[in-house]
Amino acid sequence: MSTEATPHAKPIYNVKNPFIATVKTAYDISGPGAPKNTRHYELDLAGSGLEYIPGDSLAVQPANDPALVADTLAALGLTGDEIVKHAKNGADVPLRQTLIEANSLTEVDTKLVKAIVEKTGGASPLAAFIAPEAKDELKKYLWGRFVIDLLLENPTAKFEAQEFVSLLKKLNIRLYSISSSLKANPEEVHLTVATVKYTSHGRERGGVASTFLAERVTLNETRIPIFVNAGKGFRLPDPSEDVPVIFCGPGTGIAPFRAFLQERKVTNAKGKAWLFFGEVSEKTCFFYKDEFEGYLADGTLSKLTTAWSRDQAEKIYVQHKMLEHSAELYAWLEQGAIFYVCGDASRMAGDVDKALHTIIEKEGGKTPEEAIAYMAALKEAKRYRRDVY
Ligand SMILES: Cc1cc2nc3c(=O)[nH]c(=O)nc-3n(C[C@H](O)[C@H](O)[C@H](O)COP(=O)(O)OP(=O)(O)OC[C@H]3O[C@@H](n4cnc5c(N)ncnc54)[C@H](O)[C@@H]3O)c2cc1C
Ligand SMILES: NC(=O)c1ccc[n+]([C@@H]2O[C@H](COP(=O)([O-])OP(=O)(O)OC[C@H]3O[C@@H](n4cnc5c(N)ncnc54)[C@H](OP(=O)(O)O)[C@@H]3O)[C@@H](O)[C@H]2O)c1
Repeated sequence: MSTEATPHAKPIYNVKNPFIATVKTAYDISGPGAPKNTRHYELDLAGSGLEYIPGDSLAVQPANDPALVADTLAALGLTGDEIVKHAKNGADVPLRQTLIEANSLTEVDTKLVKAIVEKTGGASPLAAFIAPEAKDELKKYLWGRFVIDLLLENPTAKFEAQEFVSLLKKLNIRLYSISSSLKANPEEVHLTVATVKYTSHGRERGGVASTFLAERVTLNETRIPIFVNAGKGFRLPDPSEDVPVIFCGPGTGIAPFRAFLQERKVTNAKGKAWLFFGEVSEKTCFFYKDEFEGYLADGTLSKLTTAWSRDQAEKIYVQHKMLEHSAELYAWLEQGAIFYVCGDASRMAGDVDKALHTIIEKEGGKTPEEAIAYMAALKEAKRYRRDVY
């Protein structure tokens, strides 16, 4: 039997077999003075055969901050050279390595909480939270706390290296909406990432993956395990179909729509396209301004509507702009438009949903119940597509 790979077989990358990419280009797309940092990344896929479609997201395996690992080791009273099993591949490695590559130091496992309570003879404040009915209280207590906080707050709890590793969660991949079209950028994948930074319990913190990308990646050098996560229903219509599309992507929600617009340009897509983009300020946060204005000029984009939330006294969000353009937006829906929304799930997506109901009631002369039915029909026809997180 031949052991040779099937010619033309496409490589399959997944969590167990990621492609190891490097970043070839990275820059800020938020300007100086922006309240938060947002960056554009271009990863090199040369030779990988890795393929994606606009609407897919990219799974990125981050590494922990070595400074946080060093502080955690100091709190444990361990050197990091102790040999333990790597939390993901089981190989014998120095403790420091598994803490950087494979264990979460920013999310606390209940196993660790219980072990600390045991080792401190119940004297720890954590003792109040280990009963199953105190689950919500424990969650609240742990909000904004890393593993190191628990170690520093409970200095009498001592751990052997392997024992400590067994009490940690695994360091998981993070998903990012792909912000490029492969047809427009062969052998590249682009991401648009907000760098998560905050202060809690007196310590400056960084989101694991977003600060790894922003602060600890050396261009063309740092090896980043990645694979594609298929975007299920988040897809453009066939370019030959004359279907209008409406994209609503405030903040990093813009990512898949940059990919969609690049794809529309390359494929000379037929239907008209309308983009709603919102950020805090036109001056500091008009991400991809030149590119989008170019699409307006060449007809890839028919309409661009922006909402700058902090450029005036009152908040202006994408849904306010949708309501301002309600007659035209409803007309597009009546012409068969697909409405796409991407970005914040906690507030924005719900508010945009409400705005759609209002527009349908107002412009379609419908009762709230009829508007609900209209929206249900949109969903059923896959003309209301959400990618929210
Ligand atoms: C399908 C999908 C697509 C996505 N696409 C994008 C994208 O295109 N661009 C993008 O930037 N992100 C995107 N995300 C979000 C992304 O996956 C990560 O969640 C994000 O980058 C944060 O990851 P991190 O590792 O940097 O932060 P983490 O280490 O995961 O830290 C975030 C956690 O920190 C804690 N935290 C945050 N702020 C505070 C605070 N003030 N006080 C206390 N605790 C706090 C919270 O527990 C929060 O969950 C997407 C998510 C999904 C599911
Ligand atoms: N899991 C995580 O750790 C993580 C990390 C990164 C992002 N996220 C999620 O992803 C979201 C996107 O973050 P982002 O950095 O891309 O930008 P964002 O925080 O969503 O902000 C983008 C724009 O949306 C505005 N906005 C705020 N509330 C809104 C609402 N209810 N409706 C419409 N617009 C609203 C913001 O205005 P103002 O700020 O002026 O109010 C800003 O102008 C975050 O809000 C968060 O939920 C999660």
